[in-house]
Amino acid sequence: MKASSFCRSPGHALLTLAATLLLGQIPGLADQNAPKKKLVVGFSQVGAESGWRTANTESIKTEAAKRGIDLRFSDAQQKEENQIKAIRSFIAQGVDVISFSPVVETGFEPVLQEAKRAGIPVVLSDRAVKVSDPSLYVCFLGSDFIEEGRRAGKWLADKTGGKARIAELVGTVGSAPAIDRKKGFEEVLAQHPDMKIIKSQSGDFTRAKGKEVMEAFLKAPDAKEITAVFAHNDDMALGAIQAMEEAGLHPGKDIIIISIDGVRDAFKAMAEGKLNCSVECNPLLGPQLFDIIEKVAAGQPVPKRIVTEEGVYDQSVAAATLPKRQY
Ligand code: AHR
Repeated sequence: MKASSFCRSPGHALLTLAATLLLGQIPGLADQNAPKKKLVVGFSQVGAESGWRTANTESIKTEAAKRGIDLRFSDAQQKEENQIKAIRSFIAQGVDVISFSPVVETGFEPVLQEAKRAGIPVVLSDRAVKVSDPSLYVCFLGSDFIEEGRRAGKWLADKTGGKARIAELVGTVGSAPAIDRKKGFEEVLAQHPDMKIIKSQSGDFTRAKGKEVMEAFLKAPDAKEITAVFAHNDDMALGAIQAMEEAGLHPGKDIIIISIDGVRDAFKAMAEGKLNCSVECNPLLGPQLFDIIEKVAAGQPVPKRIVTEEGVYDQSVAAATLPKRQY
C-alpha cells in the first residue's frame, strides 16, 4: 500500500498516529510482528570418547540447527573442571537454558547453585548428578543405567547357564553409567553364585583403554580362568576384542563378550561373531531434549525424570538389524 492511499487526510493521519501509539502501549499487540528472539542454549558435552558420544553430539547439534536455536556447545574432553568452567561461562553469557551431560556424578552443586541464583534453568542430558537440593535442575532425560546393567547380567546368566568367571571393563570412574551399570549387573550376579567378577578395571569408556586393560588381564597368571567379559560400553568391548585377537584368541567364542550401547560397530562385530550381545543405550536424545528445553524456556511444567526406551540385541538379530541402525 502506498503512503498516499493510506493517509487520506491530515485528520486521518493524526488518528492513525494516535492508534499506533496506543497499540504500542498494549502488551502483546505491538510486538506481534517483531522478530522472534532466538532461544539461547548452553550445552556442555562430556567429550568424544565413544561412538555413542559422537552420535549423541550429532543428534543434539542437528536438532538445535533444525529448530533455529542458538546452541553454545562446549566439549569438556572428559574433564569435570572443563565442564564447570563451561557452565560458569554460560551463566556469564546469560543463556536462556543450560543443559549438560555430567562427566561424573558429584562436584556440580556449587556451580548449579550459581545457575539457580542467576535464574537459569538446567536440564540434565544422558547422565545424572548427585545433589542435596533437587531443585538445582529441572529435568533429567536419559537411560536407566541400572536396568541396562541388569539386562546385561540376565542375558549373560541365560547364555552361560549361570556359570561365568567375568572380567569387567568399567566406564569412567565416578560417572553415573559406570556406577549404575555395575550395580544392576551385580544385582543379577547375587542370584547366581557361580557367576563371579574375577577382574575389574576402568577403561574410561574408550576403545584404546579398553584394549590396554584387556591386554593386562590377558597377561595375568589367572588369565585362562576368564570365560566372559562385561564391558560398560561397546567401545571398550571393541578394544578388548582387538586385544584378544592379538593374543591369538577367538573373541565371542573362547570368551563371551557383552557390552552396552548398541552402536553400529558393535552390530558389525556381532554379525562377524566377535561380540555376543549389546544392550541398547539410545544416544539420539536431541529431539526430546529440545522439546523439554523449549517447554522449560516457556515456563511450562516438565517431568523431573524422562527415561528412554531401549532393547537388547545379540548375534541372532545383528545382521538383519545392522542396515537399519541409525548410529
Ligand atoms: O553416558 C553414556 C555412556 O557414555 C555410553 O554408554 C558411553 O559409550 C559413553 O561414553
